[in-house]
Amino acid sequence: MSTELYYFSGTGNTYYIAKKIAHSFSDSKLIPIGSLNLESPVKTNAQNIGIVFPVYFYDAPKIVKRFLEKIELSDQPYVFLIANYGAGGGNALANCTSILNARHIGVSSTFSFVLPDNSIIFPTPKAKMPQMLTDADHEIDKTIQSLLNHEKGKLPTQKIATHLVSSFMQKLSTSYLEFNKLNIDKAKCTNCGLCSKVCPVDNITTSSTYPQMNHKCEMCFSCLHHCPEEAIRFKHMKPKTDYQYTNPNITLKELLRI
Ligand SMILES: Cc1cc2nc3c(=O)[nH]c(=O)nc-3n(C[C@H](O)[C@H](O)[C@H](O)COP(=O)(O)O)c2cc1C
Repeated sequence: MSTELYYFSGTGNTYYIAKKIAHSFSDSKLIPIGSLNLESPVKTNAQNIGIVFPVYFYDAPKIVKRFLEKIELSDQPYVFLIANYGAGGGNALANCTSILNARHIGVSSTFSFVLPDNSIIFPTPKAKMPQMLTDADHEIDKTIQSLLNHEKGKLPTQKIATHLVSSFMQKLSTSYLEFNKLNIDKAKCTNCGLCSKVCPVDNITTSSTYPQMNHKCEMCFSCLHHCPEEAIRFKHMKPKTDYQYTNPNITLKELLRI
């Protein structure tokens, strides 16, 4: 039975979950959503389909929702959705379920895990991270058993109040905070090019001077957290230090797009 795990990850939390699940199924494949051409249908014959993503503003990242509009399945596979977040998942799983249901694709089960928050605005205290990662690991192990048994779960429902908060947060993030237009501090940048390599959607181009941020940022903050010079910031970001996070169980190489 073939299994495909589609994932979108900036700092490795999602990739960690997807990789762990993929290793538990015999014939499995990990597929980064950022590598797919979402202008065309994404066709698959796999019998188990997992879609794994981080929560952004109580919702799923836009690229994940675009992917859900494009995936085309054959027969009736076992479809599961897995969200992960720092504190609250809001409507993310419910919204994704609804997109698929509207396309007559049934979702068998959804799961969520709490992992360190990489949003900078609400950072998880470093001291809490090891326990959080251990707890998540146990939860993922339990979930894997459930997935291997093809268990069906109760599906989440959308909440209007959460939707309103989510919309407000999304507007704030692109207008006032400009999360999608990250700035490069030219005094600090050494033009090493790492930001371009870790961007899961190929939004950063390199040049002989400085990297160039383009217009398809998904706000995953991978570049900001990986920059060795701490030279990438969003507007109004406080000049704090020790803010960078990447999942300690995932290597940089695993997150490189190229
Ligand atoms: C732009 C942005 C928005 C986020 N919004 C939320 C949120 O609404 N609720 C939450 O609990 N965590 C939120 N987070 C935290 C991430 O969901 C969490 O850290 C996730 O594990 C990151 O996954 P990754 O390491 O695979 O990128 C947000 C992170 C980013 C970068």
